[in-house]
Amino acid sequence: MKISHKKSIALGNWVSAFVFVSTLVAFAMSCTSDSNKKDIAEGEEWFKSYCTPCHGENGDGQSQIGYTMETPPKNLRQIAKRRNGVFPDAEISKIIAGVENVPGHSTNVMPAWWDAFKKAEGITDEKVLQAKIDHITAYLKTIQE
Ligand code: HEC
Repeated sequence: MKISHKKSIALGNWVSAFVFVSTLVAFAMSCTSDSNKKDIAEGEEWFKSYCTPCHGENGDGQSQIGYTMETPPKNLRQIAKRRNGVFPDAEISKIIAGVENVPGHSTNVMPAWWDAFKKAEGITDEKVLQAKIDHITAYLKTIQE
């Protein structure tokens, strides 16, 4: 009797530990999704300020300037479609930053935003700059067709 009583206390402890940990995980997840939403909203804001003149209001590549360009701006709603349904976050951030020659995207027709954002936004902290670019990438991911 004594032993089984102890066992049930131990089990009770495990259950409360489990509930506690689950609550923590649920809380952490809700925080993540909230900050994701904020990041994506910021990415959208930056996209509207800097990218729509060439890539169009909704990112489909239709713009006044685009028509006059020898290399037309890409339809950014079809980034994944062009890559067999895969949206390569890191590659897209690098293309936007213009810091790395990504095979097939090194025509230099598009401005390199790493330096442009540094100047236009006065951002000197490279971590902050990378985060801003990643937020634009996160926004682009949400508009894939
Ligand atoms: C001056 C016009 C112009 C502006 C402004 C511009 N782009 Fe571009 N973008 C282009 C052109 C042109 C291409 C196609 C380049 C090529 O084919 O090599 C391109 C290609 C891209 C690609 C590659 C798409 C793919 O599937 O490979 C991404 C991503 C992209 N742009 C994102 C952006 C973002 C984000 C912004 C704003 C921060 C932006 N662009 C602003 C002209 C522009």
